[in-house]
Amino acid sequence: MSEHFDVHGGACLSGEVEVVGAKNSVLKLMAAALLAEGTTTITNCPEILDVPLMADVLRSVGCAVSIDGGTVVITTPAEPSYVASSAAMAKLRASVCVLGPLVGRLKRAVVALPGGDAIGSRPLDMHQNGLRKLGATSVIDHGCVVAEADGLHGAQIWLDFPSVGATENILMASVLAKGTTVIDNAAREPEIVDLCVMLQQMGAEIEGSGTSTLTVHGVDALRPTTHRVIGDRIVGATWAFAAAATRGDITVRGVNPHHLDLVLEKLRHAGAEITVVGEEAFRVVQHERPRAIDFVTLPYPGFATDLQPFAVALASIAEGTSMITENVYEARFRFIDEMVRLGADARTDGHHAVVRGVKRLSSAPVWASDIRAGAGLVIAGLCADGVTQLWDVFHIDRGYPYFVENLTRLGARVERVVEG
Ligand code: UD1
Repeated sequence: MSEHFDVHGGACLSGEVEVVGAKNSVLKLMAAALLAEGTTTITNCPEILDVPLMADVLRSVGCAVSIDGGTVVITTPAEPSYVASSAAMAKLRASVCVLGPLVGRLKRAVVALPGGDAIGSRPLDMHQNGLRKLGATSVIDHGCVVAEADGLHGAQIWLDFPSVGATENILMASVLAKGTTVIDNAAREPEIVDLCVMLQQMGAEIEGSGTSTLTVHGVDALRPTTHRVIGDRIVGATWAFAAAATRGDITVRGVNPHHLDLVLEKLRHAGAEITVVGEEAFRVVQHERPRAIDFVTLPYPGFATDLQPFAVALASIAEGTSMITENVYEARFRFIDEMVRLGADARTDGHHAVVRGVKRLSSAPVWASDIRAGAGLVIAGLCADGVTQLWDVFHIDRGYPYFVENLTRLGARVERVVEG
């Protein structure tokens, strides 16, 4: 059975859209539940494919997991297994986040190497080096990360790069280590702050959350908790770009606008009117053809690499020429070939893309190579003449709850077509 979307061009999106919890937060919060025996409840979870996949990973180490709409309940046994080998491991990147909690709690872990989006090389050297500094051995053996320690002790750790996943794994291993751990050049993404908040509710002692220096004073044990996931800023930004590209008017609810300060500023430069409506909502209105602007991807608070496909989609129909620089994942420009099928005047040179805005794109069959590339192609398809067929939409289902339904509510004509 194969599925694709028919995206009808020419829409001008308008209305309100509600965004739920962040994919890149909920999966790590689910892994954090391993750190405490008992029942942890996570609310405002997105109904996306990655959540049941992560639930399978947790079940493979002995947790009971139930999912009821946006609520995930995880019961962690007194002695979980240290071997995480579910087939689901290969399907999502975030599965590697069970490594830190398992090593922290059990002092050993065998974790199958993760899968996930094909957006470039995704090594685990910083994760492993961090665990080694805490006193564990860590090797890759038969497709698994194998880590073992007699006991974990606090350490000073400098990351080469503010890696989101490495910061999370080291953080989750260090909360139960003896003594104090300092993680320098730590990632500062809002999803890391969300994880810190949940760990603190569980009894962890963490200072500096949201800064590039995290100080963790190890404690003997953590307790389960109930936690609400922060709104998904990447999904929120998707709607913001969709409004700007289709000359629409969208109010996005459920996302902290401050998590998108730079993004909204960029859209203002492109000609959008932005209104922040309290702590959890903002409105994006675009009257004229967007102006070309440059984008440079960087770790938070820089412009997120996950938003780069939306920047390319906007640039492709903007007035003028945009330069887009990708600093995080070298293979992320692959999707530009699909944009070219839609008539974009874009070319890449190393980690730069030059996009000369055209007045109109034209529909064509295109393929999503990852979650965000897929959403970027939908935005472009909405601006193209005719009906764009988007294939491999399972990528989009991994990250966007009720995507077609939300688009339809905003006035777009997008149909999911199931064949075979
Ligand atoms: C997370 C997000 C992903 C986002 C990315 C960057 C999840 C599930 N995924 O991925 O959507 O695009 O952050 O914001 O939260 N690196 C190394 N060695 C390591 C670890 C990372 O070289 O040990 C490199 C990577 O190849 C990449 C860069 O560091 O070039 C950033 O990766 P990282 O921040 O770790 O991304 P993820 O946590 O995998």
